[in-house]
Amino acid sequence: MAVFIPKDKISEIKNSVDIVDIISDIVLLKKVGRNYVGLCPFHAEKTPSFTVSPEKQIFYCFGCGTGGNAFNFLMNHDGLSFFETAKMLADRYGIEIPAQTMSPEQKRRISERESLLAANKQAMYFFKHSLLSDAEGKIALEYLKKRGIGEDTITIFNIGFAPAGWDNIINYFSKKNISHELVEKSGLIIKRKSKNGYYDRFRNRIMFPIFDVSKQVLGFGGRVMDDSLPKYLNSPETYVYNKSRSLYGSHIAKESCRASETVYIVEGYFDVLALHQHGIPNSVATLGTSLTQEHVQILRGFVGKNGRFVLVYDSDAAGIKAAERSIKVFDKGYVSAQILVLSEGYDPDSYLFEFGYNSFMNAASKAKSIILFLIESAVNKYGLSVEGKIRIISDLKQPLANINDSVERSLYIKELAEIIGIDEAAVMEKVRIVSGNKSIKSNKKLSDKMRDKNFTLKGDRLERQIIAMMLQFPEILSEIILRNILNQFEDESLKLIGQLVLKQGEHKDVRDELHAVSTRGNIFVSDIINSIDDREKRSIVASLSIGEDQWSREGCLKLLAQFESIRNRQKKTLLKKIRAAEESNDYELLLELLKKKQIQVRNDLKLS
Ligand code: CTP
Ligand code: MN
Repeated sequence: MAVFIPKDKISEIKNSVDIVDIISDIVLLKKVGRNYVGLCPFHAEKTPSFTVSPEKQIFYCFGCGTGGNAFNFLMNHDGLSFFETAKMLADRYGIEIPAQTMSPEQKRRISERESLLAANKQAMYFFKHSLLSDAEGKIALEYLKKRGIGEDTITIFNIGFAPAGWDNIINYFSKKNISHELVEKSGLIIKRKSKNGYYDRFRNRIMFPIFDVSKQVLGFGGRVMDDSLPKYLNSPETYVYNKSRSLYGSHIAKESCRASETVYIVEGYFDVLALHQHGIPNSVATLGTSLTQEHVQILRGFVGKNGRFVLVYDSDAAGIKAAERSIKVFDKGYVSAQILVLSEGYDPDSYLFEFGYNSFMNAASKAKSIILFLIESAVNKYGLSVEGKIRIISDLKQPLANINDSVERSLYIKELAEIIGIDEAAVMEKVRIVSGNKSIKSNKKLSDKMRDKNFTLKGDRLERQIIAMMLQFPEILSEIILRNILNQFEDESLKLIGQLVLKQGEHKDVRDELHAVSTRGNIFVSDIINSIDDREKRSIVASLSIGEDQWSREGCLKLLAQFESIRNRQKKTLLKKIRAAEESNDYELLLELLKKKQIQVRNDLKLS
């Protein structure tokens, strides 16, 4: 696992990482007591059950049971390997990983992801240079200027230019000894069908690098400077570029989204640039796809669950289509959104350059909730004749049924009934017919959730408490060893976890670590989590560590005594049962009981 990076470097990384810092990139966290809470990025929820402990450097979601340390968070959330995570964190915290520690073989094995990101970044520099320093870049700069894009915006968004010609990128990478195979995988060059060799995908285009929140270049969009087609050409989806998870401008918008608790979601590259330039930096664009649930999850991390999502569209038709599609996406993410349709013929880009900031903000303040927007659009379209009303209800029943929140749903049903002057019950009935088996579905979801909750609760209650105590109060570990507590455990998972805790306790002078004054608290728990490969066990450890129980030595000893006396009583009961089974000649039962006894004896032997 850690073969590429020396152990001491891994420790250095672990010691530098702050889990709150890492998770804040993705989840909007609020301090509550000693911990931070926010909406879980691993499942959809309305009330925050995702908890981060800065002292223990771990996270745990009480809703879905996902938990671990900063490494696990990044690995789960971004789908990175351990190595990639370590490398990324090292970069982030300025820890140098000596190159010579990697053998040529190891170098080759450096992940595809990293090489692709590196190639993309190189290409970005190439495009920037072409725009700003090459003679050919002049036309492109002129074009940007004509469209009102200032130098600052060009710099902030790292806009570039791909020169005309079929092999500029190819030659650039050849000079750098980067293989064509790799560059092809990044989508920057394309293999020729007929002959050998490759050609550049992006030629004579303004180039927009697409970043993720940690400022890695995932791909590019390129626009022509005249009317030729296609107007935009985009990187294909690659190992690093997934359109349904990427939003143009997200790395720049994040901070201002947080500050304003508002995000404007637009359609185009130039729309984002125009908004930014007019003092509205909290905007992102979907990249030629409709808004997905993943997009919403990301943005929810920016603006919070009560944040304002404003979808900006340039026509009613596009707005209606998008509204219908997105209502489900937003509802699943438990956020509500608004729609702003600009006056006919304008997109945010042209609107802002013509009417300015105030006018845009004024229009935005009148943006309507998606469902109200749909209701009004239907009223405009069909009118309020009897025929019209029937059509309106027919168009709206599905979107209304898609609203998961029953209170919200009935409020909108009421609203619709009032607007079109029809009895509320009649509308309700129509909606109920479409939602038909929906209640069954949500019941199933609920039971799934309860099962998820239960998995962390299963196992002997006392045994769980003991593990929690060991994790939260490591001073007690010597007592655990002395009394051989773990061998009396019945739950094998918990027993194993307990053994790992003991092992970690041996590794370090736990007490030292506990008392070490560090801004990040102690990483005892985080280290234990690191030593566990099994996801479920990791979550158990996180769930048992994150509690804020107050432990005293006295209380601990009481708990242990209670546990021992229960186990002793069980032994006695078992003996009684065995005798009874012998007397009644119940051999089947007897065999079963004797097996239990055998296990007990074995544990007792280990005890002495
Ligand atoms: N788009 C795309 N491929 C196309 C056309 C559009 O990927 N062939 C995406 C781009 O992200 C583009 C967005 O859809 O920015 C909106 O397209 P459009 O409204 O046609 O372009 P504008 O953003 O208005 O671009 P411009 O103002 O430069 O004409
Ligand atoms: Mn435009």
